[in-house]
Amino acid sequence: MTSNGSNSRESHVSAGPSADVSGSTPVEQDLEAKWRSVVGRRSFLKGVGLAGAAAIPGSALFASEAMAQRSSAITKGDVAILRFLAAAELIESDLWQQYNELGGVNGGNPAYMAALSNLDSDMPQYIADNTDDELSHAAFLNAYLRSKGAEPVNLDEFRTLPSSKATGARQKGRLTNLQSLNVDTSWYVRYRSTKNPDLGAHFPQAVNIHREPAIPLNDSDTPPGLPAPVPPVGAQETRMQAIANTAGFHFAFIEQGGSSLYSVMALKASSLEVLRIIVSIGGVETNHFSLWHDKAGNAVAQPLAGVTDPQTGVTFPDLNAKGGELNQTNLILPEPCEFLHKNLPDCSIVRPTLDRNGGAVAAIDGFTADRLFDGQSPKFFRTVRQLAREADAAQRQVH
Ligand SMILES: [Fe+2]
Ligand SMILES: [Fe+2]
Repeated sequence: MTSNGSNSRESHVSAGPSADVSGSTPVEQDLEAKWRSVVGRRSFLKGVGLAGAAAIPGSALFASEAMAQRSSAITKGDVAILRFLAAAELIESDLWQQYNELGGVNGGNPAYMAALSNLDSDMPQYIADNTDDELSHAAFLNAYLRSKGAEPVNLDEFRTLPSSKATGARQKGRLTNLQSLNVDTSWYVRYRSTKNPDLGAHFPQAVNIHREPAIPLNDSDTPPGLPAPVPPVGAQETRMQAIANTAGFHFAFIEQGGSSLYSVMALKASSLEVLRIIVSIGGVETNHFSLWHDKAGNAVAQPLAGVTDPQTGVTFPDLNAKGGELNQTNLILPEPCEFLHKNLPDCSIVRPTLDRNGGAVAAIDGFTADRLFDGQSPKFFRTVRQLAREADAAQRQVH
């Protein structure tokens, strides 16, 4: 359907995945502009319905296709941006699949699902949906790269890290390691603060999560049939709850990183269509972050607060008991903060959005500090860092 119902014929030539609200695809718009300038015909494609299109000689269609192909090339910078984003989405997909196998709505580890459900009874559904989203992001970005004659990204050779041995986990090589994370939880304070990291602010950790699993490791550590009372009772139940709480904070850590990354990359895009892809996927990363921000807060609010992993000592305190807006668990929407200049009024925004704080290299550095790549090969780090450097080096070019 076009946005203008008065001319349904236009929808025939414009129907397709990249049709815009004007009823024509960018390729068609570009093609139309060329036809107008070259042969002086107005609205060549606009007035042509299916019947009209069928009447165009095959050779003319072929020539049009060739022209559209040439005119749809994207810049080297846009390719670099999309290739890094594809890599980031493959990484996201890998970690979300691990969460989904164990704790998703069709997950295979009932004790983990029960502990996650103590954060919100819909957690398994949200995990499955977030996983689907990441898979779609990775597949779309690589397909789009291919459609532009650019090389898609394939990280399969790096799927070498071990799976969890817990019931529910498939046994296959992984890109990411969720078994001993240092989760940076400063995002929790950052989004409650009126200060902005792009203007030099630093934030403390909300919860100190060091070398804590975010998925169950094996069945002797946390049996799959464990109950999940609130608060947890017994060492194994408490351990499993600490693992689920870690996942809750890790979900938000990953997705706030995606929110910043896409915002940073949008500022570098040259093609309007590439920009459209970046802001359209980026908005969903922020949507994910907002959801997980809410759920993570339940790990540090009553009645669940106070869990301490008996093996690692990682503690999830009652942040509301600490008092103050930087701790209050239901302040999940971004607090207005400094933006651009300190003399401008505070603004509620995604932050950071500077390369050095939220760009591609910063994202890889953040994941590395998270220990998400623990055990990966030097070649893996060389590969993803190279992709990241090329994306950060992209510059917006508008002719
Ligand atoms: Fe994504
Ligand atoms: Fe994401």
